[in-house]
Amino acid sequence: MTDPAGLRRRYARGHLDDDAVADSWFPQLRSWFDEAVADPDVLEANAVQWATVTPDGRPAVRTVLVKGLDERGIVVYTNYESAKGRDVAAHPYAAAVLLWPTQERQVRLSGTVERATRAETEAYFASRPRESQLGAWASPQSQVVESRHALDARVAQVEQRFGDGPIPAPPFWGGLRLVPDAVEFWQGRPGRVHDRIRFRLDGDAWVRERLAP
Ligand SMILES: Cc1cc2nc3c(=O)[nH]c(=O)nc-3n(C[C@H](O)[C@H](O)[C@H](O)COP(=O)(O)O)c2cc1C
Repeated sequence: MTDPAGLRRRYARGHLDDDAVADSWFPQLRSWFDEAVADPDVLEANAVQWATVTPDGRPAVRTVLVKGLDERGIVVYTNYESAKGRDVAAHPYAAAVLLWPTQERQVRLSGTVERATRAETEAYFASRPRESQLGAWASPQSQVVESRHALDARVAQVEQRFGDGPIPAPPFWGGLRLVPDAVEFWQGRPGRVHDRIRFRLDGDAWVRERLAP
């Protein structure tokens, strides 16, 4: 049996120097994201741990995939009636972590959550494989289902409903954009004296600061 206390890795792959960091969070995230995508050892570079606050004030976290990334924030797609959809309806905030272990890098974002526009959702939905489009219609995400068989039967039903025709985006499904007011870049360093650079919105101005590891 492996004792997790004995698992240890020395981080020495890179460093985040003050003069090498981009002027704002977006180009810095864009360049780290592109480097993660280009690294064949990074699987699912766009996987993000996305935390919300439940209606009764508890944290909840799950993995989702980033499907939009620009100056406004990061966008993920999901069922608006899922647990996370209900969470953001009650508390429009999220915190998210992108972890790229082989790069020895983590990016943390936190901020407010808004729905993507319907046009964005429709454009993204249209780009999905047909089986994923059917899955979005068939799955009452986060609800208890009787059995795998019942779920497969729902897929068969929607398959029959749409036949060979086009499949529109379900009205209960779409994008959620995390609009950050803080973004932190973490690069592992030897001796656990890591680099942490945070961009934080202070009123209307972004402030850049180095944090102790
Ligand atoms: C690698 C990975 C990617 C995932 N991507 C998504 C996604 O893009 N959208 C989504 O709704 N769920 C995605 N899931 C499933 C979620 O983790 C979660 O099970 C689901 O969204 C229900 O969460 P909720 O009940 O908290 O709303 C993904 C899971 C994994 C492990």
